[in-house]
Order: sequence, then C-alpha cells, then structure tokens
Amino acid sequence: MPRLTVEAPAKLNLTLDVLGRRSDGYHELRMVMQSVALADRITLETGTGGGVRVRTNLSFLPTNEKNLAAAAALQFLEDCGLDCGGLSISVEKHIPVCAGTGGGSSDAAAVLRGLNRLLGAGYSGEALARLGERVGSDVPYCVLGGTALAEGRGEVLTPLPALPRCHAVLCKPAFSISTPELFARVDGVKLRHRPDTEGMVVALEGGDLGGAARRMYNIFEDVLPPRQAEEISGIKNVLVQHGALGANMSGTGPTVFGLFERAEDAAQAWEELRGTYRDTFLTETL
Ligand code: C5P
Repeated sequence: MPRLTVEAPAKLNLTLDVLGRRSDGYHELRMVMQSVALADRITLETGTGGGVRVRTNLSFLPTNEKNLAAAAALQFLEDCGLDCGGLSISVEKHIPVCAGTGGGSSDAAAVLRGLNRLLGAGYSGEALARLGERVGSDVPYCVLGGTALAEGRGEVLTPLPALPRCHAVLCKPAFSISTPELFARVDGVKLRHRPDTEGMVVALEGGDLGGAARRMYNIFEDVLPPRQAEEISGIKNVLVQHGALGANMSGTGPTVFGLFERAEDAAQAWEELRGTYRDTFLTETL
C-alpha cells in the first residue's frame, strides 16, 4: 500500500511580540521563527480501509481529530475530494508535547505535505499553508519552515535569510502554561520591553549569528507568574554560563532554548541541564 515517511521539525521563537487583541479573539502577533533538526516522524499509509486512523508512541495523546495530525488529514481530504481508501497516520513523537516548540502544528504540516505528495494532489506550498491555517495558527509556518517572520494570527509569512547554522539546546521544565491564560495576562498589562524585530531581521540579513542571538526576546516571559519566571531564568542562566550566544523561552513555553556557536559548549550545557530536566535536547538549527 502507498506509504511515505515525513519529518516534522520543531520550531523555536527567536522573537515573539503581541501587538494587540483582535475582535475575533485572536491576537495580532509578530514573531521570528526558526526550525531545528529535532523532529517528529510521521508515516502515512493510504488504502488501509476505513477513515483516518492515528497511532502514536505516546499513549496519552488523542488519536481522534483533537490530534492536529488527524485534523490536518481531514481538512486535506475534504478539500481535495480524493478518496484514498482509508488513511493510517503513525506519529512518532520526539518533540516535547505542550512545550511551545510547535510539535502538534509541525505534525499537522507534515501530514499536509506528505498527503500532497502521496496522493499527487498538486497543491502549492501557499495552498497547503492556507489549508493549515484552519488547523492552527502555527501550522502555515510549519508548512514553510526555515527562518521566517510570522505576523497576523501567525499565518502571514515572510521568508527571511536563514539563521547561520548553529547548535541549540532545548530544555523543558515540568510546569505547564495555558496558552489562553498567557494571552490574557498580556492583555492585562502594559509591556515595558518589546523585541527588536527589525534589528533581528537586519542581523539575519547580515548573517550575524551573535547579533540575532542577542536580540532574542519573548514577551510572554515578562508575564509569567513569579515562580515560573524564576525557573525559566535559572535555565537561561545555565545556558548563558555555558556560552550560549542568547537564550529565550519559545512560544508560550515552557521550553527554554539557547543557541551556541561551539558544539562542545552546547554539549556541556545539555549535560548539565539534563541532570535536572528529563526533557533536554541537543539539536541544530535548520
Ligand atoms: O490557532 P490555535 O488553535 O493554535 O490557537 C490556540 C489559542 O491560542 C487560541 O484559542 C487563542 O486563545 C490563542 N491565540 C491567540 N492569538 C493568536 C494565536 C493563538 O490569542 N494569534
């Protein structure tokens, strides 16, 4: 039966700014996104009979349309009108779950890209991104990948020059943060510091890794409850002490990441953090 395996890379927020709340309840965002090699692996198989079935190596994840991989497949099949004779989706998770690193969105994007190839449906990247928008705000970026500016709800994308290749250490503390709650906290305060998004873009245009790393900023860090903020800054300190050029929380967290020029520095930071945090990963930017 036709079968295809696709990678679903994690994403990091080099910057994240919230410009305001919209009348549709979403927020106007401005963020610079970056893909990394840490990835889930999605295997699609058509002609399996029945509808869309999801299997995953993490038993606590939903296997119905609450799983974004299934939601994306349903959107795709409805939109293209092709009958694939049943679809089996295997989701092999490596990206931490509910972590701010885009795992679910990237799985959905990989399903869209994979089905497009497997069924020869001929959608452009842009058309796949528009389909992805219906599944989640970060899905269009995950369809595109690489280094990009994401605006609007997150779906208005401008490709940027790639961040110079570097090593990244990702570390996810154990607490979880509700995305709507964090947005509500941002609505309730006047933010004093904002990311220098223009400066970030200029640094990327100049191939300046240090300049880009220095401009990493996520405004959600400024509205975290004190104990969580303390834990995040503790992890950032460890990363910086080991030579990270910059360290930041990704998305709505709680994953913190550092960017490193030297592989040995990244390895040492990873070694130290994984003693305390099980979900610590050593990877590279794409
Ligand atoms: O689009 P998605 O389902 O990924 O969004 C999840 C939640 O995040 C939304 O229900 C909303 O509370 C919040 N969100 C937002 N503004 C955005 C993206 C997400 O308020 N641009």
